[in-house]
Amino acid sequence: MAEYDDPYARSGQFIDIMIAGWWDHFGEAVAEAVRRMPADRGPLLDAGAGGGWGTLLLARTLPGARVLALEPSPVLRAVLLSRVAASEGLRARVTVDGDDLLSARLPERLGGVLMANLVGHLSPDERDRLWRDLAARLAPDACALLTLAPPLEPERVERSRMSEVRVGERVYTGWAEAEPAGAERITWHMTYEVRQGERLVSRDEVSYDWWTLSEEGLRAETAPHGLGVLPHGPAEAGLFRVVPQG
Ligand SMILES: C[S@@+](CC[C@H](N)C(=O)[O-])C[C@H]1O[C@@H](n2cnc3c(N)ncnc32)[C@H](O)[C@@H]1O
Repeated sequence: MAEYDDPYARSGQFIDIMIAGWWDHFGEAVAEAVRRMPADRGPLLDAGAGGGWGTLLLARTLPGARVLALEPSPVLRAVLLSRVAASEGLRARVTVDGDDLLSARLPERLGGVLMANLVGHLSPDERDRLWRDLAARLAPDACALLTLAPPLEPERVERSRMSEVRVGERVYTGWAEAEPAGAERITWHMTYEVRQGERLVSRDEVSYDWWTLSEEGLRAETAPHGLGVLPHGPAEAGLFRVVPQG
């Protein structure tokens, strides 16, 4: 098996604390969609679960649900596994798997899928395979809930601070900027700084490619697989429900 080229090998240590703010802002909108997932029809899938904020939300929102959390990055999977194992309620119902979404062994039927802050990692070809696969697995009332984050087309994104978290005497700051990298592609350049007072303790710089996708693009590529797209929650959350069409 080819070794997984992990874009989070260095930044994974910071992702969980820095993405927590997104879940604070939009967790309730996610939960509102999750409440409608028919968990009695099959397990829920958290694809690209990261450190598990979404996994936690799935399991807590639907206390009877079984959850499969996929996370290919070893450093993030360690956070995820630890979060799940630390809670008795989650331990009994949540399975953690290290495969990527396209090669994982998925249950035949799924009661719902969460793909938060993930889709930019998947190429158009991978998404086409994914939609075909999910169309066959999603229970009739289920949905795949995903986010589309700007930029929705290749364009330059000026450097901005995306997150700042204080833990103890240290402040963890994440900066992001992006540049176009071809048709439907950008490259994100991320900087993660740790400071204690005036002292810069560490600075990590990482870059990775990201596929852009607009709502129109999502509609066009899911429709041939019998899937429809419904915007969900506040527009700034960028949440969409991909649903089997009657
Ligand atoms: C920006 S993080 C989001 C994590 C989590 N979903 C959240 O919102 O807190 C993107 C995650 O997708 C994972 N990922 C990247 N490519 C993937 C793939 N092909 N299949 C499954 N997960 C993938 C990464 O390892 C990372 O954990």
